[in-house]
Amino acid sequence: MRIKRKNQSRQCSLPDEKVDLTLLDELLKKYSGKQGSMISLLQGTQEIYHYVPVSAIKKIAKEANLSESDIFGVITFYSQFRLNPVGKYIIKVCHGTACHVQNAPDITNALMIELNVEDGKTTDDRLFTLESVSCLGCCGLAPVITVNEDVYGKLKRADIHKIIQQYKSLEEKQNG
Ligand code: FES
Repeated sequence: MRIKRKNQSRQCSLPDEKVDLTLLDELLKKYSGKQGSMISLLQGTQEIYHYVPVSAIKKIAKEANLSESDIFGVITFYSQFRLNPVGKYIIKVCHGTACHVQNAPDITNALMIELNVEDGKTTDDRLFTLESVSCLGCCGLAPVITVNEDVYGKLKRADIHKIIQQYKSLEEKQNG
């Protein structure tokens, strides 16, 4: 069952990918000279790149006059921030109690096989990231997964292939 949601992983071992750092300019301008804006800057950065690239941290540190190690400290403290690139589609499998007893481990296992990726990792084509998370807040639909903002509940192992295929088809259409 699919329900549209309302609105709803050092430093030196991290990949320093080439990203367009000019995308940060507007964000840096917005918070220029404002005290206590580090978290807002990091949230904005993650919205742009879907993770916080090392090169972005360096630029933020330089231009907002912050220490790189302080920024890393904040990123590693808050679980909302990612230091590694993620897939276009982030699949969260709920392993809260209600979902766990309704076979969430089996759902994760089916996804690992379908995507050929380990839990917590991203597929080689950067399309999907698979994550196990705690309660997603819709326990009555257990077991539940989300794919970005889409919610799928009362899942069975057999549903997984179809769900993944629809995102792959979407990609194919978008890529012509
Ligand atoms: S335990 Fe899975 S949504 Fe709450």
